[in-house]
Amino acid sequence: MNPLYKTLPLMGTLLASTILANNKSNIDINHYNTFIPKEIWKDNHGVHINAHGGGVIFDPKTEQYYWFGEHKIAGDAGNKAHVGVHCYSSKDLCNWKDEGIALPVSDDPESPITKECILERPKVIYNPVTDKYVMWFHLERKGRGYLSAHSGVAIADKVTGPYQFLHAGRINPGKWPIGMPEDQKKPLDKPFDDKNHYNQGEYTLIRRDFEGGQMARDMTLFIDQDGKAYHIYSSEENNTTHIAELTPDFTAHTGKYVRIFHNRLMEAPTLFKKGDQYYFIGSGCTGWAPNAARSGIASHILGPWKELANPCQGNDANITFGGQSTYVLPVEGKKDTFIFMADEWKPNNAIDGRYIWLPIEFDGDQPILNYKKTWSLNKD
Ligand code: GAL
Repeated sequence: MNPLYKTLPLMGTLLASTILANNKSNIDINHYNTFIPKEIWKDNHGVHINAHGGGVIFDPKTEQYYWFGEHKIAGDAGNKAHVGVHCYSSKDLCNWKDEGIALPVSDDPESPITKECILERPKVIYNPVTDKYVMWFHLERKGRGYLSAHSGVAIADKVTGPYQFLHAGRINPGKWPIGMPEDQKKPLDKPFDDKNHYNQGEYTLIRRDFEGGQMARDMTLFIDQDGKAYHIYSSEENNTTHIAELTPDFTAHTGKYVRIFHNRLMEAPTLFKKGDQYYFIGSGCTGWAPNAARSGIASHILGPWKELANPCQGNDANITFGGQSTYVLPVEGKKDTFIFMADEWKPNNAIDGRYIWLPIEFDGDQPILNYKKTWSLNKD
């Protein structure tokens, strides 16, 4: 119970309840029963949750959910990493406890994750073989805009961290994707044309980046039922998505990867499995501004993938209700129950970014998202 109530006489309590009921953001501190997209979501200290572009894992050891995301600061400065990756825990997905910063950015100017780098879309998975938690994230080296297109990895013994930064860089240098025609496995014939990214055919960017490694920006992780983990990311100047297999310890890439949704300019990838089918939900490519979501389906993780329709329906379906996908969470113990997690970005005051979580429905094979002002897992 909120200690405030304990000290108030009855009349005061009634008055306080009325005031609280009129101010949604103060309702039920630490006693949420519902998801209210776009509202302030308070943690156990009454502070708006600061875990943007994030993902959630269920940890069987503690039987709790852990939410990892970008800790943002106020103003547009918050679009760069000043603090690190924030972690919260929850038993019910509605009430979240602040677990602190799982991966801090570094004060060392030489570190790839030095303060004011861009560190986005962190995701954590658990490796049962090494008994480590493995975090991957999109990393842009400080002062270089979005040109680095690196991926970083960090590991921890405990789900909440501290995570130890291992390395960062481009993906799969010196490796061609699965299905690449033999006659394309060669350097570019003429200079790369920034205005026409595929000026030398479908494999132009793969060939350009072969030696140094492929670009990776917006990303997610997925573990399949056979225990193999995959890194899914926007590559080739955000034109084409890749799915790359991770090594058995999840801290590197095996060199096996596929290109999906060629030249479809997708970002914010999410991937989940229902029954025997793999599903993808992502966004188009318009920076912080929302756009229409994308979806896709495959019978095998490495494809072939078939693009489906915009999963959103109703008002603002063409802008994902004002949000951009970040993760799809399978709800523990509830078969075929998935939560679509999205960010409503506030690039002018990044810390004020909001969360849009919605239940995923299906119309046959098509995932469907309907906006809900408020909803709960029990009732919906
Ligand atoms: C978005 C992307 C975000 C961030 C932003 C920067 O498209 O999904 O993670 O990188 O662009 O403009």
